[in-house]
Amino acid sequence: IQEPHFPNSLSLLSVDTLSLQKQIDELSTFSDTPAPSVTRILYSEKDVLARSFIKNLMGFAGLSVREDAVGNIFGRWDGYEPELAAVSTGSHIDAIPYSGKYDGVVGVLGAIEAINVLQRSGFKPKRSLEVIMFTSEEPTRFGISCLGSRLMAGSEALEKALKKTVDSKNISFLDAARSAGYAKGEEDLSSVFLKKGIYSAFVELHIEQGPILEEEGISIGIVTAIAAPASIKVDFEGNGGHAGAVLMPNRNDAGLAAAELALAVEKHVLDSESIDTVGTVGILELHPGAINSIPSKSHLEIDTRDIDEDRRNTVIEKIHHSALAIAQKRDVKLSEFKIVNQDPPALSHDSIIKAMEASSQELNLAHKLMISRAYHDSLFMARISPMGMIFIPCYKGYSHKPEEFSSNEDIANGVKVLALTLAKLSLY
Ligand code: GLV
Ligand code: MN
Ligand code: MN
Ligand code: MN
Repeated sequence: IQEPHFPNSLSLLSVDTLSLQKQIDELSTFSDTPAPSVTRILYSEKDVLARSFIKNLMGFAGLSVREDAVGNIFGRWDGYEPELAAVSTGSHIDAIPYSGKYDGVVGVLGAIEAINVLQRSGFKPKRSLEVIMFTSEEPTRFGISCLGSRLMAGSEALEKALKKTVDSKNISFLDAARSAGYAKGEEDLSSVFLKKGIYSAFVELHIEQGPILEEEGISIGIVTAIAAPASIKVDFEGNGGHAGAVLMPNRNDAGLAAAELALAVEKHVLDSESIDTVGTVGILELHPGAINSIPSKSHLEIDTRDIDEDRRNTVIEKIHHSALAIAQKRDVKLSEFKIVNQDPPALSHDSIIKAMEASSQELNLAHKLMISRAYHDSLFMARISPMGMIFIPCYKGYSHKPEEFSSNEDIANGVKVLALTLAKLSLY
């Protein structure tokens, strides 16, 4: 590798931790729930404000900013060989209800700071460097995870589905996108698709969302693979009725069918006998939702994941069989069993793992290889680019709750490793 404009002294990589923490704190105020919780839902007023905040920071960093039809935001620093495939980095800033301020955010604000770090060091990239803020990594509003990156990676199924997708208030995806200033005059979202090979590398910085790095006192996690996620929506329907008047033998309670299925999910997951298999019923709704009315409808959303795709698929099949059996036994209708997504796992690319390892080593930071049990936009970027992820420790492994926290020092270490990794990959 030729390294013409490489910073002479790596210790010159200085992170402005004070500004970075201020940005993290300020971004957390764009929230629909009170601090310390953060709730930032796709295309909401707060999301639009947060997007402006990010675009401004990209502008201050001297990046040229573009947005696509669903609001993926790209900030580019042109390299001295701009015709080469660029090196990209980024994450998301949407936040699930009552979550914290670091998930995703560290990988967006940290990426912009990594660019600032490189600029301050005098580095000149050969390949262009691009920071990406992905639209809706979280499935909160439209039920689809990694919406922006999934579409970028060319999911025609999603492109088609989004024409008919609505949120819980029956607002269509396209109307919501338009209200935030996107998808103007467009029905066809295939303009978001990126060609395979457009990036020579993609690297995402993220809090670990698990306890290992903190417990072991290790600064940097180098992700080798991302577990395979899936999600399922289920509806049961019964006759409902008066909670006093309808006697037990005459009921077909949609709520009890849901309760039984929730327990079946747990059973099938545990029966896999692998600690890596997980399943969660995070949404369980009863209709009409009155204490003195037998539920006539129930709705469940099931999340299940595994590092082993076949084992995860077996769990999905068992859940389906249980749903059918429970409906029959309880004489309710299984009116929907929809697998929303059933994604394969993704592997990090060797060349990026090596660059992240070398960077950690040169910065004297203890590091270890690990897998990601959470999913990330990297899962989809891996379809169009060699991919890698950098994890940093977070307090007790907490995530998706207000107590989520990473220290300034850990964030700064992650930003340095990201900056050096981007520098190396840009010269490659
Ligand atoms: C994404 O936030 C996930 O649930 O892994
Ligand atoms: Mn998340
Ligand atoms: Mn995240
Ligand atoms: Mn995530």
